[in-house]
Amino acid sequence: MEKRATLSVSILGSDLTIMDQHIKLLEDVGCRMIHLDVMDGHFVPNLTFGPDFVRNVKERTRLLVDTHLMISNPEQTLESYIKTGSDYITVHAEAATHLHYCVKRIKDAGLKAGVALNPATSLSVLDEILPFVDLVLIMSVNPGFSGQEFIKTSIDKISRLNEEKKRRKLAFDISVDGGAGLSNAAELKKAGVSLMVSASAFFKSADKKAFVREIEG
Ligand code: DX5
Ligand code: ZN
Repeated sequence: MEKRATLSVSILGSDLTIMDQHIKLLEDVGCRMIHLDVMDGHFVPNLTFGPDFVRNVKERTRLLVDTHLMISNPEQTLESYIKTGSDYITVHAEAATHLHYCVKRIKDAGLKAGVALNPATSLSVLDEILPFVDLVLIMSVNPGFSGQEFIKTSIDKISRLNEEKKRRKLAFDISVDGGAGLSNAAELKKAGVSLMVSASAFFKSADKKAFVREIEG
């Protein structure tokens, strides 16, 4: 049987002045989660929005809010993101000096904590943090922009992470972010993805209800 995953739609690259329309669209086509890409123009070469915007989205929707922090030194502003009430907050392993502190703080606040890895970052950096995380996000493009080409070696990286998850009998979600869509969903789910982030493939698809159904099975 086809494996299931949850779809988390990223609105990166969309017109943010019509956020209410995006939210309505996602709710109407049966999405359960929205992925908010916070970028600081420092950790990544793009700039998006901060905690006030995330909180406003959370207040306007029943979708689960999956906040992806692509910011340097997340320790410094973490509290403001925790206060947004996001359901998931993910920090980059490369950006946090005190990764364990970030994960623990997010979880102590009652939210789900994720750790993201850039394409060139080895899974080995997760060794010590893995028992504490609710989610690992594997970047399958270099973070910064939507609409980039999927890096194919990410599939093998996800499979190896999934093996490690089984070996250590852990229960975290595996998320993939970048260039994911219907063309690679089956392969990604087979490799162990349980949460698939998608921006351009979702927004370009003619039948968005079918897109959600196909991913979520
Ligand atoms: C990239 C972001 C992604 C991005 C995905 O840095 O983290 O969430 O929006 O966009 P697509 O699905 O178009 O690659
Ligand atoms: Zn993202």
